Amino acid sequence: MFNNVTILWFSSDLYTAAVRHTPVLLRESLEALAPTPGMSVCDVTLGLAGHASAFLQATDPDGILIGIDADERNLDAAAEKLQPYDGRVRYCHANFRDLSSCVDAPVDILFADLGVSSPHFDDPDRGFSFRFDAPLDLRFDQSRGVDAASWIARAKEQELTKAFAVYGELPSARRLAVMVSEQKPTTTTALKACVEAVYRWRAPSMLPRVFQAIRIAVNDELGALDALLHSIPHILKPGGRCGIISYHSLEDRMVKRAFRSLCMVEKDERTGQPLSAPLFAVVNTKPIIPGPSEVSENPRSRSAKLRVLRRAEA
Ligand SMILES: C[S@@+](CC[C@H](N)C(=O)[O-])C[C@H]1O[C@@H](n2cnc3c(N)ncnc32)[C@H](O)[C@@H]1O
Repeated sequence: MFNNVTILWFSSDLYTAAVRHTPVLLRESLEALAPTPGMSVCDVTLGLAGHASAFLQATDPDGILIGIDADERNLDAAAEKLQPYDGRVRYCHANFRDLSSCVDAPVDILFADLGVSSPHFDDPDRGFSFRFDAPLDLRFDQSRGVDAASWIARAKEQELTKAFAVYGELPSARRLAVMVSEQKPTTTTALKACVEAVYRWRAPSMLPRVFQAIRIAVNDELGALDALLHSIPHILKPGGRCGIISYHSLEDRMVKRAFRSLCMVEKDERTGQPLSAPLFAVVNTKPIIPGPSEVSENPRSRSAKLRVLRRAEA
């Protein structure tokens, strides 16, 4: 029923204008998380509420949704879209690393669809895309933290090398770090010039990875994910489920390891027998990935991996 859902809505301002939004792995998320009427859901990456509106439909008539996003503009756009569900939704402008500031009681479903949303790429002023000349900002939450230009200006060469090599998986990361460290670009165009000087004809394929690396560093995305993973035992009700969609191998590895360690049980040293029943179980041992038709309709979904964890009944 939810396959290939495309949501279109229009509003006067540029930010929400004509956003064509396709939630990634929507049908698979609903199948694996199994929302039913009356359930409580916490979507920690509300974005444009693509997944959230499907959760609200599935939990009709009295389920509740806590929608969290670090980006206030996305939160406003989501609230506009979720107006028909007013009274069932609570919005929280926060980083999901501070989950306890938004959620005061355990929920049935905890959901995260990590990373960027389409408006980030499509807004010419945010610096997420090298298609536009803009100040290098790249923060999800522009009310806090340090923008990318300031981060670059302060970063040591090793820090830049680590970001390019690890978060961007870029070759010649050190050469790029030296160039960026010398030039200290403050706009997308200036950063693009550094990338072109280092990679020359290979620059077009490296640019997305360079921007991704800086975005991950500036938003401390892995630190936030780590905090989110640690909060799972405190936030999931018995019988509850947690689903996380990641787009980067580092994120997927963190989710896989955290889920695996939650599923472990203490064993008797002598017999090797488990001393208790496991508190958590993974719903799918292999990550769920999009099929070819989703990838061709929504190329951004190509690297998506969904992992789902279930908490045992009390
Ligand atoms: C891929 S989009 C989510 C799209 C959403 N599932 C939908 O269907 O519209 C990710 C969203 O998470 C937000 N985000 C990323 N990291 C965050 C964090 N650490 N805390 C809170 N929000 C975050 C981004 O601002 C963005 O709006």
